[in-house]
Amino acid sequence: MKGLSFPSGFVWGAATAAYQIEGAWNEEGKGESIWDRFSHTRGKVLNGDTGDMACDHYHRYREDLKLLRDLNLRAYRFSTSWARILPQGGAVNSRGLDFYERLVDTLLEFEIEPYLTLYHWDLPQALQERGGWGNRDIVGQFADYATIVAKRLGDRVKNWMTLNEPWVIAFMGHRSGEHAPGLRDEKLALQVAHHLLVAHGAAVDALRANTRAARVGIVINLLPVETLHDTEQERALAEQNWQSDSAWFLDPIFRGSYPAAIWQAYGAKQPRTLPGDMAQIARQLDFWGINYYSRHVVGINGRVPGSEYTAMGWEVNAPALERMLVRLNHEYQLPPILITENGAAFADQYADDGSVQDPRRIAYLYTHLEATARAMAQGVNVRGYFVWSLLDNFEWAYGYGKRFGIVYVDYTTQKRVLKDSAKWYAQTVSENALAPLA
Ligand code: FCB
Repeated sequence: MKGLSFPSGFVWGAATAAYQIEGAWNEEGKGESIWDRFSHTRGKVLNGDTGDMACDHYHRYREDLKLLRDLNLRAYRFSTSWARILPQGGAVNSRGLDFYERLVDTLLEFEIEPYLTLYHWDLPQALQERGGWGNRDIVGQFADYATIVAKRLGDRVKNWMTLNEPWVIAFMGHRSGEHAPGLRDEKLALQVAHHLLVAHGAAVDALRANTRAARVGIVINLLPVETLHDTEQERALAEQNWQSDSAWFLDPIFRGSYPAAIWQAYGAKQPRTLPGDMAQIARQLDFWGINYYSRHVVGINGRVPGSEYTAMGWEVNAPALERMLVRLNHEYQLPPILITENGAAFADQYADDGSVQDPRRIAYLYTHLEATARAMAQGVNVRGYFVWSLLDNFEWAYGYGKRFGIVYVDYTTQKRVLKDSAKWYAQTVSENALAPLA
């Protein structure tokens, strides 16, 4: 069976985020972030896990980047920690910047292209105390942070992402409270979402002003909403969910306006906007990232009969990714797309021979790459794919219980072990074609 092939130049990578892997939470001048505060608060993270040590990547980064090289990956998506660089939100901690400089230089030494995300959820706690994303001042603060990182790394980093998953930041951080800073206030969450979008646009300008030839984008998590019975009522509900979660971010960025019906329905909860905001949000992008894991099905409480579920309780459904990509391509004028995250958590364990066999993860990656290729054959401009994640890591409110890595991490010894999926992915990458399933 011949594997499905990808165009030459297709970008193959793996993704991580600072708080989930670095550890060294208070070393070399790093300030406290909202995730340090949150994970140190009893009852917020499963088993009381924290990112204090995580994968100790801060000290082991060279060994970890070697793994990328050994897996034939030529692209690496990582994030910088705002609180490592601006511990109190104001003055620069040069040792924090030094770390990211070492990281980037090592990537380039290994001929791996850096894809840098400025914000993957770890706001300096000092800024949270001034209102965080709920305070309009955050727009200028984020642009200043972008400028500082761009000035130090802009000669070497060509691919920049402003925010990771504004939906999660706004709604899980400020409406459901499952994530830092743990607030539960829908009106605030909508204001936060708006500030995130404006801050994104301001950072796009700052990055372009302080780099040469930077390619700039944003990463959005998208959850297609589908129906179980395809009734008119279910279709309407699915569409409403899509509009209030996904289009709420896509429309401002790609059309310069919020979805009108949802805006109306929010009434007194509508965010305050200033003249010029929508144009600022809708800056032309060089690319954008989609994080895709699963779909949402309306018309059922609980699981879809016959479907497979991951350790997160998320349904495995690759065709929904294909359908969503094709739909997006019809509805919006889009810049090139990167799949910036895709992957699955399973209860991986060592086998007796020391290997970690994860056939379900291989099948997951296979089918989602296949779905991506099918969408590309229908004209969707996908330029690359990053598996989430390189390493098992701190999975936010779930702590270390959920393993998303293609590389297993033994947290007691910090030993790394390639899972079978890492080997499968390396083969796929080197052939630029889907390696067959065992
Ligand atoms: C995404 C996050 C990433 C990781 C995966 C599983 O929402 O961006 O950090 O936690 O989910």
